[in-house]
Amino acid sequence: MKKVLTASVLALVLAGCQTDEKSSEPVEKDEKVSEQKPSEQETKKPEEEKKPETPAEEEKEEAKEEQEKTPPEKEKEESTPEEEKTEKKTTEEQKQEEQKPSSQEPEPKKEEEPQTETPDTKGQAESADLGKGLLVVANKKYALPIGYRPPDLTVPKVRFSYAGTLEQSYLRASAARGLEAMFNAADKDGIELFAVSGFRSGERQKTLYDGYVARDGQKAADTYSARPGHSEHQTGLAMDISARSVGNGLTQALGNTKEGKWIAANAPKYGFILRYGPGMQARTGYMYEPWHIRYVGVGPAQTITNNGQTLEEYLKVGH
Ligand code: DAL
Ligand code: ZN
Repeated sequence: MKKVLTASVLALVLAGCQTDEKSSEPVEKDEKVSEQKPSEQETKKPEEEKKPETPAEEEKEEAKEEQEKTPPEKEKEESTPEEEKTEKKTTEEQKQEEQKPSSQEPEPKKEEEPQTETPDTKGQAESADLGKGLLVVANKKYALPIGYRPPDLTVPKVRFSYAGTLEQSYLRASAARGLEAMFNAADKDGIELFAVSGFRSGERQKTLYDGYVARDGQKAADTYSARPGHSEHQTGLAMDISARSVGNGLTQALGNTKEGKWIAANAPKYGFILRYGPGMQARTGYMYEPWHIRYVGVGPAQTITNNGQTLEEYLKVGH
């Protein structure tokens, strides 16, 4: 009898899980993308880690970041503090929230290790200077207060890789306007870009980072994921973008596509820099991320790019 009951309960639980995942499906065009991402990543991760160039790193990044977008988000959204929800709901896009596909999937995250407070990678984090406005630096050396939230978050009117509005849909106003101009210009050039992940709370970064550490170990995680308080995404000035040609994934393969090349060549005109450029890992602390653009304003973006500098080099601060 017990066995029968146990089996029944299990069956119900499993059925529930499946239902949830499936019902979370799609949404128009992006569905393909978002649906594929998760599974792709999950499957590719392990293998791709063995890839050429940047071994485990690249792919992990992609996968990870993707996971960031997908699974985590949801969880967050659902368990996010009142703050976030309030903010979102006060925005115009609030409506879309309801349409949020429950799409994305389960997550691989396993928080095995507590990791409460994450110390700086170098052992001594300094406070990020928010007074620098659009030129604020959040990196391994400079951290934002864990509860910091940008003052003017808004959802850029651009194409996203998923339907609905999530925490990651937001950017600070000036960055949002720059992104809109950039996407419009890309459209005119026949380049279809998708926004994937923008603002990320310090809390969410912690969830993501802890998951990566549990999965890949801290040393590896530190090459592709910022510790909580150290992510540029928390400034609301960074957006991860991708293209259908790579399944809207956050993969280094994007750099070899026409979209990735367009981004590298044109982003500065709209105030964005490729924050973690190729061959810059020793100078930024992170692997190459052709999908991660950071808003700094048109002048600085063009100077930084033309000089082949990192943001840190331009501002003469450490990383
Ligand atoms: N992937 C970048 C480094 C971040 O986690 O902010
Ligand atoms: Zn990013």
